[in-house]
Parts: sequence; structure tokens; C-alpha cells
Amino acid sequence: MQVSHSFIIDNISELITMAPLQKEQRFTRIVADDLGIIKDAWLEIADGKVAACGSGQPPGQKLGIPRIDAARQIVFPGFIDAHCHPIFAGNRAGEFAQKLAGKTYQQIAAAGGGIQSTVRATRNASTSELLELTQTRLQRFLRHGVTTVEAKSGYGLGLDHELRLLQVLRDAAQSTPQEISVTCLALHAVPFDAASKDQFIDQITNELLPEVKRKGLADWVDAFVETGYFTPADCDKYFTKAKDLGLGIRIHADEFLDSGAAAAAANWQAASADHLQMTSDEGAAAMAAAGVVAILLPGTSLYSKIPYTNAARFKAAGCPIAVATDFNPGSCVLDNISLAATLAAVHCGLSGSEALAAVTWVAARSLRLEHRKGALVPGFDADFSLFALGSADEWIADLGRTLPSAVYRRGNRAD
Ligand code: NIG
Ligand code: FE
Repeated sequence: MQVSHSFIIDNISELITMAPLQKEQRFTRIVADDLGIIKDAWLEIADGKVAACGSGQPPGQKLGIPRIDAARQIVFPGFIDAHCHPIFAGNRAGEFAQKLAGKTYQQIAAAGGGIQSTVRATRNASTSELLELTQTRLQRFLRHGVTTVEAKSGYGLGLDHELRLLQVLRDAAQSTPQEISVTCLALHAVPFDAASKDQFIDQITNELLPEVKRKGLADWVDAFVETGYFTPADCDKYFTKAKDLGLGIRIHADEFLDSGAAAAAANWQAASADHLQMTSDEGAAAMAAAGVVAILLPGTSLYSKIPYTNAARFKAAGCPIAVATDFNPGSCVLDNISLAATLAAVHCGLSGSEALAAVTWVAARSLRLEHRKGALVPGFDADFSLFALGSADEWIADLGRTLPSAVYRRGNRAD
């Protein structure tokens, strides 16, 4: 990626910095003042990083630096989608019709749909087709102002199949403007061609994970810890191995039933536990004590007709709360992170300020990127978007309708 020269964006009506949260390294108890909004602002970028910012006119010594007129738009930190599944082939729109007719996710899966049907389509797709599909989806995230994406494998299931998907995700990261954090979701389901669940878990644990580490193919590992998929006990060897290898842990937790996944996430010191519709107060308390970020995925509740996660439970416990899309072919086809934020506000109970921090600063924390992403303060990556909204407050009320007029990653135009 080319490195940008210095320039200043001026005439910004509101610059959202998240500076108070960054300064205090705080991820909870977020109120409006924590957003660090500078009115009538300017933002200086040098070598892909935020160099300085302020209110009014930039100081005189900056007169020679090229200017871009924001024309009174709002500047947001680049949004971070900390949970999505962008690599797959096929289409499960037919399952949505079944859901409308009253079938549950589990009934559809038992009848041959669900994850297994996407696994078949994905295995049958060529590598170049998968790369193109993934790139196209990442471009759509970019159009919504997403500059960092956590991208999961999980539709290969099996040694070579998962390695292929992870390699495509790494290749996609080279050719899209976003930063991609890659997650090996090898325990997404037991594939139809596995000899047994135990044998599958052993192979993934003992063969796939070391190979993923050796080739540098993933930053994280994930599992679908859910009744009918994997129990916490099923995942113990897998996550212990991941930890030994220095891979971080993220978990699909308690989406349909409470299987103790939140407490297990705390035990494994996961960076995040995601979904959490059915998590108990005890599970939330265990997560808070271990610093596990709760990632809310309200698009899945909407699209799969299941309950929304109760954010109050996680706020009361003291968990950091992020929001992501969960974009995937079956349970949620949402790729609009601003709409995910509004759904989290309306249905999960976040304030507008909490929702904005949830797709920037706290999402960065969940990916352990809070030293350079999720805020616009000096030294941080110059990832940001310009939105023609009347004020920052309008963003949460907008239902994701307004697309950014420009998106920058590391100081370069990305869109
Ligand atoms: O996050 N819950 C597990 N995985 C996805 C859905 C996968 C699928 O149905 O293809 C999710 O909702
Ligand atoms: Fe998911």
C-alpha cells in the first residue's frame, strides 16, 4: 500500500475522536462526552497516521500543507466489523422463506440446509471464484465505511478445505483496501463427511491448527459453542491448543440456548464471546471478570427471528460491548454496520454513544487493535469516513441509509 503525503481535512462540522476513551483505556460505562467530538474541526494526516487535530483554523505553521474541504461533513473513525463470514459460495435465500413459514434454524439444518449446504457449495467453488466473491463482499462493507474486518473461515470444514479458505482470506487482504483480521472457524459444524465428531475435532486440533500457525494463516480461532454443534467440553483441546500456539480465541456463544459458552469463554480467556442471546447473568459476570468483549449481532436476531441480546445484562456486569454484522449466507445477510448499530440500540438497549463506540473503539479492543485503531488520535491509523449528516447524533437515527461520501484507510482514499 502506498504511503500518503501530509494533508489536512478542514471544515469538518464534527470530528469524532474517541479520545477520552483512548486516553483512559476504558471500554465500558460509555456516555456522550466519551466520544471526544470536536466541532468545527480539522484533521492532519501524515504518513498514513493521524498527526494532529483541533478546532477552528489549523495553526499558521500548517499553512503550506495541502487541504481537503470536508464541506461541513462529519468525520467518523473507520468502522470495524468484528464478526463476519464473508467467504462462501452458494445462496440460501430459500431458507428465509422457510423461516417465514415458521421453520427454525435447527429444523432447516436437520433437513439438509444450514451450514452443511454452504459447505457443499463452497467446496465445489473454484479458488478464484471464492476470491472474487470475498472481494466483492468486502467492497460492500467498505461502501458502508468499514475499514477493518474480522473475517472467518468455517465453510470448508476439513483440513485442506479450511486451509484453502484461510489462504483465500489472506489473499483477499492483499487486494482489498481494508485491514483483515483472519479467524479460523474450523469448529463451525461437524462436516457431513467426517468419520465422527471426536475424530474431526482431533484432526482439526492436532493437524489443522499447527499448520495454520506455521503458515501464518489466521490471527484467531473460533468455534460454534451451541447445543447440537459443539459443547464447551468438545472445544477444550482445540482452544487449549490454539492458546499454546499463540492464536487468540473468539467464540460463537449461547445463540439459541445457554450451553455455558459465556463462562467457558471467560475460562479460555477469549478476546470476545459473540451472539449471547441466551447467556445468564452468571455467564456475563464471568465474561466481565475475564475482560471478554461481548459482541452483539442484532442482524441475526432480525433475520433469523430469534430473541435479541439484552445489553443491560452485560452493562450491569461491566462487559465491554461491541456490535458487528455477522454477515453470512444463512442466519444474517446484513452487511450494513450502521444498520447493525441502530438495531443494537433499538432492540438490545444501547445508547447512540454506546453503539458508536461499539463499532469503533470497543470493536478495535475485541481485535486487540486498540493501540492503533478505533479512535482518531495522534499516532493512530488514519482510517476514517466522511458522512453528510447534520450531526453525529443523526447517525444512530439514520437506520444506515447514509453511505459515506469518502472512506480513507491509512490516509489513502479506499473507496
Ligand atoms: O454466526 N452461528 C453460527 N454461525 C453463523 C451462521 C452460520 C450459517 O448458518 O451459515 C452465525 O450465525
Ligand atoms: Fe457468526
